[in-house]
Amino acid sequence: MLKGRHLIEPGNFSLEELDGLFGLAERIEEDPRYLRDSCRGRVLAALFFEPSTRTRLSFEAAMLRLGGSCLGFAEPGSSSAAKGESLADTIKTVSCYADAIVMRNPKEGAALLASRYSGVPVINAGDGGHHHPTQTLTDLLTIRRMRGQPGNITVGFCGDLRFGRTVHSLAKALARYPAVRMIFISPPELTVPEYITGILKKEGVDYVETDRLEKVMSGLDVLYMTRVQRERFFNEEDYIRLKDSYILTAQKMESAKPDMIVLHPLPRVNEIAVEVDSDPRAVYFKQTKYGMYVRMALIASILGAAA
Ligand code: NCD
Repeated sequence: MLKGRHLIEPGNFSLEELDGLFGLAERIEEDPRYLRDSCRGRVLAALFFEPSTRTRLSFEAAMLRLGGSCLGFAEPGSSSAAKGESLADTIKTVSCYADAIVMRNPKEGAALLASRYSGVPVINAGDGGHHHPTQTLTDLLTIRRMRGQPGNITVGFCGDLRFGRTVHSLAKALARYPAVRMIFISPPELTVPEYITGILKKEGVDYVETDRLEKVMSGLDVLYMTRVQRERFFNEEDYIRLKDSYILTAQKMESAKPDMIVLHPLPRVNEIAVEVDSDPRAVYFKQTKYGMYVRMALIASILGAAA
């Protein structure tokens, strides 16, 4: 039962609970009228202290499709945060107005803090370079729809693995599935943080780190591309030096398996050439749609509106 629960990081839900959500999302995909009015009269607050297109709009679309309403802000300059209000006070206030809060904040740990002050469930839509669990729901559902339940696969994560919160959350989540091998492809400055490799070691996950995409491409079942996270760099020079480290092209795709899939949380900057979009293995725009279905399933479950 997910009713009343917070979602701060991927480990908050058991594998059975995740399966339940994915089953619900698949049912919504099959029949878009399913759960249509289940959240009528309920309110979702979306508090975005950082830019967003897909996460915020897919949450709003999800709530509207469930028959509920949304309020919130898309940038902190229009809220009392600009006057110096603490996050705790903002959350105490908003939880008087809404039945659930979805929040993105540049500080690691902000969602956990918010959950301690909130009278309603808090969903983490990204806390700095830390976690992004609803993107993980999106990614896992996409893998499941394209290739079946995760297991016995090799997943390559490529790009900014240091600051990319979607990578941290997905790697942590995939570590719970059987025989998932991980290959982390990044420049030495942007390797995956130790708090993630520590978990992988503890769980006995088979993983390797490399800086060469071409070398490992032919062995991958899933390639998870990411953008270099400019906003989390301390200086622009480092960003400029590293931003073109990996660019996926049609030519590089030639050495990939015929059934490999390419995922990307988006937004893309230049790390996937537009020519790759027409390759049937490029599923990142399908992934954005699954993101809305799984957020519908999540909201309905957290609000106790799903059967
Ligand atoms: C990601 C994020 O915000 O972490 N975007 C998203 O939510 N789909 C990835 C990114 O910004 O690079």
